[in-house]
Amino acid sequence: MATADVTQSRTEQRVAGLEIKNEEALQGGGKDRIAKHKEGGRLTARERIDVLLDPGSFVEMDRFVTHRSQNFGMGDKKILGDGVITGYGRVNGKLVYCYSQDFTVFGGSMSRTQANKILKIMDMAMKNGAPIVGINDSGGARIQEGVEALAGYSDIFLRNTLASGVVPQISAIMGPCAGGAVYSPSITDFIFMVKDTSYMFVTGPDVIKTVTHEEVTKEDLGGANTHASKSGVSHFATNDDKHCMLMIRELLTFLPSNNVDDAPVLPSTDRPDRVEESLNTFIPDNPKKPYDMLELVKMTVDEGYFLEVHQNYAKNILVGFARYNGRSVGIVANQPQVLAGCLDIPASKKAARFIRFCDAFNIPVVTFVDVPGFLPGTDQEWNGIITHGAKLLYAYAEATVPKITVITRKNYGGAYCVMSSKHLRGDVNLAYPTAEIAVMGADGAVSIIFRDALKKASDPVATRAQLNADYEEKFANPYVAAELGYIDEVIEPALTRKRIVDALEMLKNKKDTNPRKKHGNIPL
Ligand code: HXC
Repeated sequence: MATADVTQSRTEQRVAGLEIKNEEALQGGGKDRIAKHKEGGRLTARERIDVLLDPGSFVEMDRFVTHRSQNFGMGDKKILGDGVITGYGRVNGKLVYCYSQDFTVFGGSMSRTQANKILKIMDMAMKNGAPIVGINDSGGARIQEGVEALAGYSDIFLRNTLASGVVPQISAIMGPCAGGAVYSPSITDFIFMVKDTSYMFVTGPDVIKTVTHEEVTKEDLGGANTHASKSGVSHFATNDDKHCMLMIRELLTFLPSNNVDDAPVLPSTDRPDRVEESLNTFIPDNPKKPYDMLELVKMTVDEGYFLEVHQNYAKNILVGFARYNGRSVGIVANQPQVLAGCLDIPASKKAARFIRFCDAFNIPVVTFVDVPGFLPGTDQEWNGIITHGAKLLYAYAEATVPKITVITRKNYGGAYCVMSSKHLRGDVNLAYPTAEIAVMGADGAVSIIFRDALKKASDPVATRAQLNADYEEKFANPYVAAELGYIDEVIEPALTRKRIVDALEMLKNKKDTNPRKKHGNIPL
């Protein structure tokens, strides 16, 4: 009897011991640091995970891991978990791996053991084919660990690269992320930042001041708005920590778990054959008058819902996710309201990267076209529009997912070839009766091919008007392309949604491949 009691009590003690250790791990860097961290309205590393994952679904791993450094008195400073919380859980029922750096523990800095924890869940995500969400809040490499910390980062960069195109990788930047802390996110597919509390820079304002004598605030240098609008490094600028986590949940609803899964299909209440009469009068009579392509896109997609990616960067092109009859698609659309919808360097890079993501993850691409061409000018030429524009061309050409194109108005020159044309393996190419498909607009074309006639004309203005009208009649329409089979159908705009839904259904089992190769050489 007595022996049994003793066993029981030892067991109980051990269970209680576990509870104490768990409690210690949950304290992170301690109450004071947590209170300081939360001052700006920020959530703790654990609270962020709680918002990200379905309630009660998080399973933590490596909670008791500690660093092994003895440098600079670090041997006496060990904190359970070593500044990162790692594990797995569910988002809307689907498996997701995640890590969340804890700024209250050594500033969330990257140690060898912290890296090992992150690598463990990255390897699991790859083996089990599930997305990885990294919540970054870190002062970079743990200075006391020297090259061990750099090795940890490098191992993560390698995993990020190998996982690219295999499982979706999403990064949240939720604090000051400096040095090594910015490179892993930049390899991942999407970066979310939080306005006013998150920063990304390779070198901070102090170093910049010393080296280049520039004075810049950290907000201007690498805040959420800067990276969402100027550099394009970040895809989403969110309002606060909670909003950031909820947006990631939202994005995940559009994505498959890995590159062999199909794009998700969710139930829709919107009729697949909904006719949108207002689209028949939506394109302005005057071809020079802009209109809002975003509005047009929204009129065609399920419940008018479009999750725009890179909303504030290269606004002359729209990219984002939507659904047609529940099926997830990536949308790319020229925006005539900005730069007349011209393709420039940022727009080419933005759309190319988005298309490659969609193609890697079996998400069909629907393209809406109204583009007068590439943006002319020395700035564009000297900064390499040739190379960057070619990225977009390359991305469309190599994509083997279903590709559906709707030409609403202008589709001139090189931009015709680039924007998911039949010649780049567009599967279903539709055009509105208002489409204008030619090498260039009437004015430019007439100036070149009738230069002599215009010089000799007794009334050059009237002659030009007549020549422009002739050119427009011959070329500023979709019918030449339709006669040649480069356009599959000229559609009544009201039927856009129905036609896209039909095309997606028809292409559901599409199989297309590229020649075997190690990898292509996209013009980077
Ligand atoms: C170790 C660090 C740390 C780091 C912060 N801490 N960064 N410990 N290594 N890299 C610790 C601080 O000592 C402090 O500990 C706690 O974290 C909070 O830091 P504070 O400075 O008090 O916070 P704050 O004022 O908010 O400033 C945050 C910060 C600043 C801007 C991130 O800490 C900072 O500048 N850190 C260094 C950034 C940096 O240069 N990292 C190395 C980059 S090089 P206590 O105990 O006081 O709470 C790099 C190389 C990799 O990453 C390159 C790979 C390509």
